[in-house]
Amino acid sequence: MFLRNHWYVAAWDYEIADKPFARRLLDEPVVLFRGSDGTVTALEDRCPHRRAPLSIGRLIAGDRLQCHYHGLEFDRSGQCVRAPSQADIPAAMRARTYRVVERYHWVWIWMGDPALADEADIPDFHFLSTPDKWGAKGTVMHVKANWQLIVDNLLDLTHLATVHVTTIGNAAIAEKAQARVSRTQKGVLMTRWVMNAPAPPTYVKAGGFTTNVDRWQFIDFTPPAFLRLHVGGVPTGTGAPDGPLEGGIHMRNLNAITPETETTSHYFWAQAHDFDIHNPATTEMVFGQVREAFLEDVAIFEAQQRIIERDRGPPEVDIAADAAQIQARRILAQLYESERGGDRAVGR
Ligand SMILES: [Fe+2]
Repeated sequence: MFLRNHWYVAAWDYEIADKPFARRLLDEPVVLFRGSDGTVTALEDRCPHRRAPLSIGRLIAGDRLQCHYHGLEFDRSGQCVRAPSQADIPAAMRARTYRVVERYHWVWIWMGDPALADEADIPDFHFLSTPDKWGAKGTVMHVKANWQLIVDNLLDLTHLATVHVTTIGNAAIAEKAQARVSRTQKGVLMTRWVMNAPAPPTYVKAGGFTTNVDRWQFIDFTPPAFLRLHVGGVPTGTGAPDGPLEGGIHMRNLNAITPETETTSHYFWAQAHDFDIHNPATTEMVFGQVREAFLEDVAIFEAQQRIIERDRGPPEVDIAADAAQIQARRILAQLYESERGGDRAVGR
C-alpha cells in the first residue's frame, strides 16, 4: 500500500546534477534533472511515444530532455516541443510532471493529487541545513524490504539491546527504559528514558562519558514515514530528566523512507550532533557509528521481507514495546482508507 497524497524525499540534492537521474518512487518511474536556473524538474520516466525511459536521454541547454530513442524533446512542463522527423507535435505528446521542492538538502516530491500539495506540510528537518548549530551527515540506503518494516524498526528501540551492542545499544536500553507514547497533531511521540545506566560504545566515543548516564530517546513519527529522533545522554545525577540536560551530548537521527516498490525502499537518513560541530572527523565518526548500526537493521528488514514473501504465517503477536508501532499502524491504516475513499468518490 502506498499513501500518495504526501510529500516524499526523492533524492539528496547532490544526487541531482547535470545528467538525468532515474529513481522509481511509489512504483512509478521518475526522472529528475536540474535546469539551467539550478532548480529541479521531475517527469515521468517514460517517453509518451514508445515508452523508452527518458532518463537514458540527454539534457539540451539544461531545460529540455531529449528521448534517446527517436530524439523527441520535452520541456520542463513535460510537453514535447520538438520532434526531429515532423513539424507538428501531437498535443498528447506530454510526459507527466511532478511538483518538487528543494529543502534541507533533500529534493521533495509530490506524487499524489496536485491540488492537495502544500509545501507547509513538509516536515521540519532543519538540522540538516543549519551548519552553525548542527554537524550533520547522511546518505540513502537501498533496502529490499517494504517501507513499513523500517517505520516499525525506528518506533521500537528495544532492538538496540540485541542488534546494536557494538555501537548505540546495551542491555539497559531494553531492560531499564521508562517509555511513554502519546499522539501528536499528525503522528505519534514515544519518549524513552534510561536512567543511571552505562553509556553504550557510541556515546562513550562521542561524549567521553566516564560515569553512568541518563539517556533519552524521543521518537517523533509523522506519517507516512518520517521519524525524527532526539537522542542524547548526560552524566547521571546532573538533573535529568527534568533539568536543563546540559553537559552531555544531543543528537538527531533523521529518517525519511520512500517506497520504491511494495517490496523495496529508499531509506534516506542522517545523523546530526550539537557538539564539536565544526570538526568533520566528529561528524564522520558519529555518522559511521550509526551507519554500522543501520546496516545491521537492513540485514534484518531484508530477512523479514524474504520470510513474509515466502509465507506470512499466522498473525503477528505483539509485546508491550510495540505501543508506538501499533499507534502508527493505526494512523497509516486510517490515512490509507481515507485516500481510497477519496479515490472512489472521484471514480478512479
Ligand atoms: Fe536499529
